[in-house]
Amino acid sequence: MPPDVRVIEHPLIGALLTEIRSTDTGCEKFRKNLHNISRLMAYEITRELPSRNITVTTPLTTTHGIALQRSVIMIPILRAGTGMLNGILDIIPDAKVGHIGMARDEKTCLPTTYYCKMPQSINDSDILLIDPMLATGHSAAAAATLVKEQGGINIRFICLVACPEGIKYFCEKHPDIPVYTAAIDEGLDENSYIVPGLGDAGDRYFDTE
Ligand code: URA
Repeated sequence: MPPDVRVIEHPLIGALLTEIRSTDTGCEKFRKNLHNISRLMAYEITRELPSRNITVTTPLTTTHGIALQRSVIMIPILRAGTGMLNGILDIIPDAKVGHIGMARDEKTCLPTTYYCKMPQSINDSDILLIDPMLATGHSAAAAATLVKEQGGINIRFICLVACPEGIKYFCEKHPDIPVYTAAIDEGLDENSYIVPGLGDAGDRYFDTE
């Protein structure tokens, strides 16, 4: 099955992403741009959310309208995923939020979970799993497995920058989960950083080293 990867092409997203790739861009602008990119991406991604018909009473009459079929749960992968949280919450303010903390085991180099807190009704919600950089794909795939173990079914993975290695790994593990990204870069360097990428998204967002 070909990987279900959707690149969200939009001139505003492209321009904002170009700015945050630059080493000239400091933390404040990085945060602002990531916030705005997340908002724009969320607008495009939520286009596909299922809705249901409802009736609504206006001050004049009763008419037909729609509501989202299911509640939305956002799950950022700590810590960089939180950088995309508020931008998406801007357009889905009633979304519930879960958190997954993943760290790399120094011996095995594999991701281990150090934190997991999920909202109720995970099995009956549209889930947006979020991590800005789909690099090796290991933590994203492990996080998606965890979400499924907790009962999650309708899952979408959202990142800012992906690369072929990460897409291949993630989509082989989770062919049922569509990947949404603003860009697919060339590949990984020897330290598993995406090239050209933007560096360490968490460090740039939180101004750490
Ligand atoms: N995580 C990042 O923040 N950047 C990369 O390039 C790869 C993983």
